[in-house]
Amino acid sequence: MKNKDAELMEKISALKKKRNAVILVHNYQLGEVQDIADFIGDSLELSQNAAKTAADVIVFCGVHFMAETASILCPDKVVLLPDINAGCPMADMITAERLRAKKKEHPQAMVVCYVNSPAEVKAESDICCTSANAVEVVESLGAREILFIPDQYLGHYVSTRTGKKMILWPGFCPTHVRIRPERILQLRQEYPQAKVVVHPECTPDVIALADEVASTSGMCRYARRDDVREMVVGTEVGIIHRLRKENPGKKFIPVSDQAICPDMKLITLEKVLWALEEMTPEVKVPHEVRLKAIVAVDRMLGGKSKGRD
Ligand code: 13P
Ligand code: SF4
Repeated sequence: MKNKDAELMEKISALKKKRNAVILVHNYQLGEVQDIADFIGDSLELSQNAAKTAADVIVFCGVHFMAETASILCPDKVVLLPDINAGCPMADMITAERLRAKKKEHPQAMVVCYVNSPAEVKAESDICCTSANAVEVVESLGAREILFIPDQYLGHYVSTRTGKKMILWPGFCPTHVRIRPERILQLRQEYPQAKVVVHPECTPDVIALADEVASTSGMCRYARRDDVREMVVGTEVGIIHRLRKENPGKKFIPVSDQAICPDMKLITLEKVLWALEEMTPEVKVPHEVRLKAIVAVDRMLGGKSKGRD
């Protein structure tokens, strides 16, 4: 570890105590940011953690929709996103206005909303899901018609797993579409013993080649299995840091070095320290939006969020 990082980490740790803050970190964050986490996880685990934390301040090292979800769940806490420009291009592929228009075309449809979406869109939805629980969420619904937003590829994967036909919004993750099937076929030749694990945001031709399809934390759990010695990893490359740290002696091969989410990389140790010093930038979902959005988020969490008032 660089001296400068060690110094920043010490300062962050001291200030975190003073502010009674908790640092929640997504699996794609820079290695040094992962190393200061009080909790590291996927979108579902991070929202569950935000919902139950006793801290006054949540420093969210992830992207905007994740901090918004924390704000929806914890309206009385200060939620800081150390770089307010850390967004998610997939979440920006839908707006509440466009969703309202689509709902008019399908008045009977239930709207299942991937958490990678703006709070205003969640407010127009019936239930949320993450990559970790999307199959269960859709399976649990009795609706004859389902509108799945905004990720067409996650939606496609869920419909193949559940056998339910769904109307799919044409959104996608620009990082995950860089993961290509030809490369997986090459890597299978190079590493015949390796398991291939991919994220459900990948395209169907990639998913068809995988041994396992999982959320980011699902991948971390899979990597711990005794029968996994080598793993080809089809997701954003930031996860490799955690996989190697938790599994010394095992080999992790990213499908593509280009699968980088530039937004996830905007959070740095300097910005985390600055956010704690200045108590900004804060992400706060407006009250009226929150009151509607919490219904869909809470339904996903099984009514356990304590967030509904
Ligand atoms: P996870 O919920 O699997 O961590 O995924 C979040 C995400 O943004 C994937 O691109
Ligand atoms: Fe959004 Fe893709 Fe980045 Fe995940 S990896 S935050 S879906 S752009």
